[in-house]
Amino acid sequence: MRFDILTLFPRMFFSPFQESILGRAVQRGLVQIRIVNIRDFALDKHQVVDDTPYGGGQGMVMKVEPIGRAIEWVKAEDASARVIHMTPQGRPLDQERVRELSSFAHLALLCGRYEGIDERVRELFVDEEVSIGDYVLSGGEFAAMVVIDAVSRLLPGALGSDRSAVEDSFFNSLLEYPQYTRPLEFTGRTVPEVLLSGNHCAISRWRRKEALKRTLTRRPDLLGRAVLSREDRDLLEEIRKESVES
Ligand code: ADE
Repeated sequence: MRFDILTLFPRMFFSPFQESILGRAVQRGLVQIRIVNIRDFALDKHQVVDDTPYGGGQGMVMKVEPIGRAIEWVKAEDASARVIHMTPQGRPLDQERVRELSSFAHLALLCGRYEGIDERVRELFVDEEVSIGDYVLSGGEFAAMVVIDAVSRLLPGALGSDRSAVEDSFFNSLLEYPQYTRPLEFTGRTVPEVLLSGNHCAISRWRRKEALKRTLTRRPDLLGRAVLSREDRDLLEEIRKESVES
């Protein structure tokens, strides 16, 4: 899968894509990432990429021409590239959208800066707008990294085994169960006995119950969307009874 990142700050991307799962995906050629410097598409002597807003007001607005040229350059090579503007005004990103985005062969992520971009960029060049949450970053760069990381790890072969993606939080709209590794005891806190039992059935049941418990207490909104089995409902009933008793 290909990602183009259109930005005024190429250096922000120098190391994040060299580490961990994403770094391996890049090395193996599963993911290709190219940084496109919007300033290279400003044709005037000073390579101006922003200007004051019409109508007055604070700050600067990114100009339409350099961004437009940069996007046209990407599209000239691959007309099917999907252009995504990273902005808090976009559709909030969730795992379902991440999965949908992973089906595109080529995403071009436009990172806005300053007070915003000229509205005509949106109208003429952008296919969709994505927000990574209800807070304001100083630009779309970190948001683009989030999209690339979340999408790339879903590509076949990106993770060690396909199982890890299947077991992820949100795969089935539930938060993950608690995990433990050595040592068995740390400052008086021990690992739950069931995990040492070797009883795979009991371990699965415990994990599912913990996942349900966590989701119920931390993100009850997710439970409404989860696909719950008969056993899940019984476990939830158990959890409710236990919380009344304690
Ligand atoms: N740019 C600034 N804030 C953002 C956000 N929350 N999501 C996506 N892009 C952004």
